[in-house]
Amino acid sequence: MKKSLLSLVGAGPGDPDLLTLKALKCLERADVVLYDALVSERVLALIPASTLKVYVGKRCGQHSLNQEAINELIISYSKRFPHVARLKGGDPFIFGRGQEEINYAKKHGLYTEVIPGISSAIGLPTHYGIPLTKRGIHRSFWVLTATDQRHQLGKDLDYAAQSSATLVILMGTRKLPFIVEKLLSHRDPYCAIALVQNGSLPSEKVIIGQLQDILELAAEHQFSSPGIIIIGEGVKDYAAISYEVIRTERPLNTPLSMIRQPMAS
Ligand SMILES: C[S@@+](CC[C@H](N)C(=O)[O-])C[C@H]1O[C@@H](n2cnc3c(N)ncnc32)[C@H](O)[C@@H]1O
Repeated sequence: MKKSLLSLVGAGPGDPDLLTLKALKCLERADVVLYDALVSERVLALIPASTLKVYVGKRCGQHSLNQEAINELIISYSKRFPHVARLKGGDPFIFGRGQEEINYAKKHGLYTEVIPGISSAIGLPTHYGIPLTKRGIHRSFWVLTATDQRHQLGKDLDYAAQSSATLVILMGTRKLPFIVEKLLSHRDPYCAIALVQNGSLPSEKVIIGQLQDILELAAEHQFSSPGIIIIGEGVKDYAAISYEVIRTERPLNTPLSMIRQPMAS
């Protein structure tokens, strides 16, 4: 029997224009596409109508397939189709468990390839004009998840908070109060912080503040998943170009706090 191909494909953060050409070509060729919850409708719309699309995603506790079931599904589709694409949000190897799927497929004799995607961790800060490195200030950046496998605040957050790096935290929306508390034990209360929800999508929301007031702003503007948290001087370069910017009324030491939402059409 001819071996099938599994393509593990990064879908980028949501805006279809942030998909790579290689990913697009693969999605046009594949026989079946198994996709996650983070893959946007606008990216899915680029897949030919004749291609079988199978949702295998999970979002915040909703009914979902576990990883083992997804692995099995890949194998079962590969027995029916020569080319299976597995489409995951952002980059498949950044908090994506992509390598587990590749390893499982290899073990079952499939050809495999990995097509990188623009990760939300790096693509979204740049998309909003927030540099992650700054000459003389931030010589590195850390991309981390707020919690470990037991949903506890991980040690890395503590180490990262003590560094001079820009921090980009994924999957931290619900842990924001704990994250801010941890950061305040090592960083200045006026430290700039950005919350990005649904980045690069029409439903995007960007909340800019300081460690001292971000919890209030997050509550006021209902910050929720999926979101990333960016902490560092680069946040002050945030490019609020061609968008409506609502400054908060509260007096602050710097005029930094603002929220950006798409303009009403
Ligand atoms: C399981 S991780 C997957 C990350 C993905 N592989 C990547 O490289 O972007 C899911 C987290 O990615 C972040 N995320 C992905 N896309 C996002 C978007 N468009 N806006 C905000 N956060 C996003 C959120 O922190 C979300 O909780």
